[in-house]
Amino acid sequence: MALLPILLLPDARLRQPCAAIDSFDPALKRLADDMLETMYAAPGRGLAGPQVGVMQRIFVMDTGWKEGRPSPFICINPEIKDASGCAVNTEGCLSIPNRPVRIERPAVIRLAWQDLAGRACEGFFEGFAATCVQHERDHLDGILCIDYPDLPETDAEEST
Ligand code: NI
Repeated sequence: MALLPILLLPDARLRQPCAAIDSFDPALKRLADDMLETMYAAPGRGLAGPQVGVMQRIFVMDTGWKEGRPSPFICINPEIKDASGCAVNTEGCLSIPNRPVRIERPAVIRLAWQDLAGRACEGFFEGFAATCVQHERDHLDGILCIDYPDLPETDAEEST
């Protein structure tokens, strides 16, 4: 495995849409392994193809590893099929260091994707995992978290 350099804003590749993946070969498995290693080393919870200069529709994420519950997820050609509710979370991005933003997004999503073997998968995501999936999927269309309104903290949240 190898650590990949992470591109930083304003690298133009972070603003370009990515192509669908149609070749599920050993090179794709190596790429996914390298992306996971790079994400853990960063350290981060999600990393999308364009962030390492790969303009293909792939991201990796692991929302539990920092709390000792590793759950690596490799997501290829993701499509959000359904979304409901709304939740506000603070998001950071490895390509935009030290610029957290509070963003409102749907709270629950139904996602379709392909795994490393090209098999069609589908599942529901909620909580921080739903936020993370939407953040990473945005990267595949050149959309960044700083494109959304940065919401102020409310009194209610500060008191909890
Ligand atoms: Ni990001």
